[in-house]
Amino acid sequence: MIIKNSDIKCVCGITSKFPIYDIPEIAFAGRSNVGKSSLINGLLNRKNLARTSSNPGKTVTINFYDVNNGEFLFVDLPGYGYAKASMETRAKWGKMIERYLINRQNLKCVILLVDIRHKPTADDVQMFDWIVSNSYRPVVVATKLDKIKRSQLSKSIKLIRDTLGAGKDVDIIPFSSVTKAGREDILNVFDELLLIP
Ligand code: GTP
Ligand code: MG
Repeated sequence: MIIKNSDIKCVCGITSKFPIYDIPEIAFAGRSNVGKSSLINGLLNRKNLARTSSNPGKTVTINFYDVNNGEFLFVDLPGYGYAKASMETRAKWGKMIERYLINRQNLKCVILLVDIRHKPTADDVQMFDWIVSNSYRPVVVATKLDKIKRSQLSKSIKLIRDTLGAGKDVDIIPFSSVTKAGREDILNVFDELLLIP
């Protein structure tokens, strides 16, 4: 897959009605701070298209990015599990993510991001289970690859796989937004996903 161009298409707040598109969508889910926006920027070769909020408790939006003039869309979901957010705020985020995910006809895949250095949380496991039980192909991206030693890689991937309960056939792709390692592997998976009608 070649990324030719990209642009912000729509920003949805907590009360927004989501736009309906008949272009395939790939959504990115994961804990706050895991690196969703950095991954989107890395894949699109953009420095700052997907903005990183310095105040995760305040801004809750779902951002849609157009890729290659209508070929498909990337969807940056709000991060879940932000420790400093109140229960009420966290519940709102969860509801918003749920509202997006349910009955999204053009959604091809939900990419689950986990930090390569940490054991996935209960929220990550829940998200993974949701993806599988809704018959989406599970694809996990393990972010911040540059933060671990090469020798730790297979152990880290095994911990992620075991904790999520992901079978051997599930792709867990290490990625670094610093070195861009893993970018091609992820784009190759997207090629496969977008081929499925
Ligand atoms: P929310 O929007 O709050 O849910 O966070 P996010 O998942 O979009 O994370 P974001 O991309 O904003 O990254 C959070 C922090 O992690 C930033 O300081 C990034 O620079 C850093 N970061 C993200 N990916 C990587 C990576 O691969 N390597 C390193 N070293 N830092 C990263
Ligand atoms: Mg973000």
